[in-house]
Amino acid sequence: MKVLITGGCGFIGSNLVRALASEGIHRIRIVDDLSTGSRDALAAGCEFAETFAAGAMAEGPGVELIIGDVCDEDLAIRAAEGADAIVHLAANAGVALSVQDPRRDCRVNVIGTLNYLEAARKGRVKRLVFASSSAPVGECDPPIHERVAARPVSPYGASKLAGEGYCSAYFRTFGVETVALRFGNVYGPGSAHKSSVVAKFIATALAGETLEVYGDGGQTRDFLYIDDLVRAVLLAARSPGIGGEIFQIATGRETTVSEILQDVVAELRRAGIHDIEVAHREPRLGDVRRNFSDTSKAEKMLGWRAEVSRGEGIAKTVSWFLEKQAAASGSPIRPARVATRTHGVGLDSSRRAAARPEKIRE
Ligand SMILES: NC(=O)c1ccc[n+]([C@@H]2O[C@H](COP(=O)([O-])OP(=O)(O)OC[C@H]3O[C@@H](n4cnc5c(N)ncnc54)[C@H](O)[C@@H]3O)[C@@H](O)[C@H]2O)c1
Repeated sequence: MKVLITGGCGFIGSNLVRALASEGIHRIRIVDDLSTGSRDALAAGCEFAETFAAGAMAEGPGVELIIGDVCDEDLAIRAAEGADAIVHLAANAGVALSVQDPRRDCRVNVIGTLNYLEAARKGRVKRLVFASSSAPVGECDPPIHERVAARPVSPYGASKLAGEGYCSAYFRTFGVETVALRFGNVYGPGSAHKSSVVAKFIATALAGETLEVYGDGGQTRDFLYIDDLVRAVLLAARSPGIGGEIFQIATGRETTVSEILQDVVAELRRAGIHDIEVAHREPRLGDVRRNFSDTSKAEKMLGWRAEVSRGEGIAKTVSWFLEKQAAASGSPIRPARVATRTHGVGLDSSRRAAARPEKIRE
């Protein structure tokens, strides 16, 4: 298969490229502007060649990287030439960034997606897999499923909803087989640059700094391990008869941020890192309170379900961060030692009074 992957140097992209490259038969082309991704992330999973001239994709296995912006519509058309499928991951990836700069979020996520749909239409690329999120749905009574009316809370949710809308339109009007996957909260190796909760907790603890919990920690998410997600993306790229569909891709389990915190702390303790400081901050704008998914449609139509348990996933992730830290320092891991206590920093006085010190269970 010849696959064009946008955002292939990022967290999800580099894991996807590694999985595809390991099959040893695919030609993979990546378009990435390296704004959050890196050559190093890509190089950790495969050998690649950097190229400027994007002609038709060659036959035979191999990985090539084109440094470029998905907002460049000419590049999109050239990059997609000869591809069998496009996996469109490149994006302004997150609520916080979209709140800071909604216009940029719109440009990258909406125009960028339109560019690759156009490239698929003009280049007769059969399939385009679009990286969406539960953010389009916004506040609703979970579990979130594909039939819930979308009412985004954040600009990020709005731009991903626009992407889903264009995917639907390009399937129905032009016959491009689009598949939109609404990823849960993905964690795992390769996520060191992410500000998602698991990555942030681990990186902050390893730096010996205070872990921050927004609000009371009772907000819930559906945490999905990266290998499960990569399997879902590959199925979405290959399965017949799913053009125009949207799938929730998550575990179906509701987990609070406090529970994740406890898991991460327990795993760090196993690695010899004992005393970790936690502070509660104001809830973030645009964050929803409860979020987990009903994944029965993916089970039925893709034959997919999450397989990696939270315990196993967190253990693998912590161990990856520790290895990375050890490699960077060139010395054995030295645990950070600070006092265990919980702050109400940033909360107003009434909520600070209500914030009880949270004893992290061993
Ligand atoms: N990680 C998650 O939990 C999660 C959840 C839901 C949806 N998603 C979606 O999955 C996709 C991948 O997310 P990720 O976690 O790997 O993020 P990431 O930031 O690690 O990867 C995004 C990649 O896209 C590249 N990129 C960004 N803007 C670009 C542009 N204008 N032109 C070209 N390349 C650009 C970055 O350099 C990076 O390599 C995104 O679309 C994101 O919205 C991620």
